[in-house]
Amino acid sequence: MVSSSVIYAAVPVSVIVALGLIRKWRSRNWEKCLSNTCLRGKTFLITGANSGLGLETAKALVRRKARVIFACRDVAKAKDAISLIRKEQPNGGELIPMQLDLASFESIEKFVEIVKAGFYKIDVLINNAGVYVPLKDDLKTKEGFELHFGVNHLGHFYLTTMLVDLLKRASPSRVVVVSSTLHERGKIDFEDLNLKTEIELAKAGKVAQRHNAGYCNSKLMNVYFMRALATKLMGTGVDVNACCPGFCYTNLFRYSVRWYHYLLMLPIAIMFMKSAKQGAETIVYCATDYNIEGQTGRFYRDCKEYNSNVQFDKEVENKLWTVSEELVKARKPL
Ligand SMILES: NC(=O)c1ccc[n+]([C@@H]2O[C@H](COP(=O)([O-])OP(=O)(O)OC[C@H]3O[C@@H](n4cnc5c(N)ncnc54)[C@H](OP(=O)(O)O)[C@@H]3O)[C@@H](O)[C@H]2O)c1
Repeated sequence: MVSSSVIYAAVPVSVIVALGLIRKWRSRNWEKCLSNTCLRGKTFLITGANSGLGLETAKALVRRKARVIFACRDVAKAKDAISLIRKEQPNGGELIPMQLDLASFESIEKFVEIVKAGFYKIDVLINNAGVYVPLKDDLKTKEGFELHFGVNHLGHFYLTTMLVDLLKRASPSRVVVVSSTLHERGKIDFEDLNLKTEIELAKAGKVAQRHNAGYCNSKLMNVYFMRALATKLMGTGVDVNACCPGFCYTNLFRYSVRWYHYLLMLPIAIMFMKSAKQGAETIVYCATDYNIEGQTGRFYRDCKEYNSNVQFDKEVENKLWTVSEELVKARKPL
């Protein structure tokens, strides 16, 4: 007769094996970037390259011999990431650590000045850095913009528009905007871009949405920005596309998710959550695959085009661009 202790041990083992098999089956749809072209001589600039998806994207590009600028909030973290990659890939491309705080216009301007002094062209700009913070914490950028709006959208808007000349010089070149399918839950309220209402609700513990409105809105702005920039750069040889890496295990949720959330969500995480390396595949695809050269204004997920369920509105697209320009000029929320 089988003892009860054997049965007790067999149950969790069977559950783990079953979850592992389901994950393996699900991951068949997690496409890989098949392009392996040598990128020697090409310069890639990645924001937030020290962690998660940015770091894995950098590794994949270095493996292909690219020159990679690590544009990071903390330059010490950029250097640590570079040492890690160097240990793994001693013969990879050139790796350059640089300081860039997207929550400060002054830092963005200083960064662009140094990039322009040191580089004649940028082949691919990857707007990857991002934050996901609790709204109740009411965090702001140096100029007083709500953190998701300020870093995920406005900081990248300012950075990209100042680097367009260098991208044009490298034509055919690319901009890759790392957004999320959570953009489909976003809203753009021009009367309350700084999210005063949502923040007050969050502080009062009355947040209606399961997802963070600041984050979702900023990811929708990423897609509107990508579409506007693609239109403006049509015919210049600079392709502009956005992508979603999928739900990935990175540091993104470090301020919002406690360890016990992971424990509770473990079965879902095992089945649905990609590793950062798996998530980076779509970013690398958008940044390097020659099969999509000349395609612009599109959204990708799992290394193929994704049809968003958002009805994009040209008026909103134009208004977001104009308002963003005004806010950058004003250097404070209007
Ligand atoms: N993980 C997911 O499931 C998921 C899903 C869809 C989309 N995404 C998107 O993927 C992108 C990368 O996120 P991740 O998941 O890799 O998260 P992550 O590991 O937290 O990486 C985010 C990066 O952004 C940097 N960053 C944050 N604030 C910054 C600032 N003010 N200036 C410059 N850099 C700043 C971080 O620097 P520090 O290390 O110094 O904080 C870090 O390098 C984000 O745009 C995110 O929205 C992620």
